Amino acid sequence: MRLAVINFSGNVGKTTVTRHLLAPRIPGCEVVAVESINADDGQSVTIRGKQFAQLQEFLQSVDNVVIDIGASNVEELLKMMRRYRDSQEDFDGFIVPTVPARKQQQDTAATLAELARIGVPPERLRLVFNQFDDDSPIERAFETLLAYCNSSGVVVRPAAAFISFNEVYALVRGTGQSLAELAADRTDYKAEIAKAGAHADKLALAQRLAIQRLARGVIPELDACFTALDLHGLAHPSGDEAMPAT
Ligand SMILES: Nc1ncnc2c1ncn2[C@@H]1O[C@H](COP(=O)(O)OP(=O)(O)OP(=O)(O)O)[C@@H](O)[C@H]1O
Ligand SMILES: [Mg+2]
Repeated sequence: MRLAVINFSGNVGKTTVTRHLLAPRIPGCEVVAVESINADDGQSVTIRGKQFAQLQEFLQSVDNVVIDIGASNVEELLKMMRRYRDSQEDFDGFIVPTVPARKQQQDTAATLAELARIGVPPERLRLVFNQFDDDSPIERAFETLLAYCNSSGVVVRPAAAFISFNEVYALVRGTGQSLAELAADRTDYKAEIAKAGAHADKLALAQRLAIQRLARGVIPELDACFTALDLHGLAHPSGDEAMPAT
């Protein structure tokens, strides 16, 4: 499975989706960050947009990979995809995260339109509604984007996969650990807190407890989101998936 995580907008959760949603659930998955600056935690190979030919060669040589395309490289990558005819077919799917802010919804619609223009069919596109806030239904929070999806038909079943806003994504960056590791941490922090003498030690342990609880809370949602993406359907698209425009 070869996936590209893409959006013209920055800060929509491309890296978060790559690292916490997709890569941990695809066996033997490699992660490639296409970033010209600020390649996150330095864990992955970094390829600049200009080195597109190299990226294509790499894609032919791996089975399971997620390419996290930093916002500053998206335009260039799409330009290359237009130049190297049919190169978008190297990807089984394009995952497009989005967030409720209106500007980001508009940029997301523009991203979907551009992907359609270079020849990506609707059944190979998936939206991830990120930083969703339970207070407002998904149809209202993402009204602008959903209206575009329904009228254009560029994506099938648009509102299937979502990730709630959760502070754990920011906290996990500071720990250098994965969400799965944090959720699997068996330390009984409440017992540790009871044993700790100094107030500062208790506070530090309380923070670890909070992260452990948040991580455990978020894993089921990410599992559900991954299932809702139906990536299996990318390899075996069925004709009845298309949602009629309303
Ligand atoms: N569901 C979420 N809840 C809370 N915070 C989130 C969520 N998703 C992402 N974030 C936070 O939002 C910020 C942007 O996310 P991320 O770095 O994944 O975006 P990006 O699209 O990769 O950005 P860029 O275009 O700069 O590469 C990060 O600080 C991240 O921790
Ligand atoms: Mg990023």
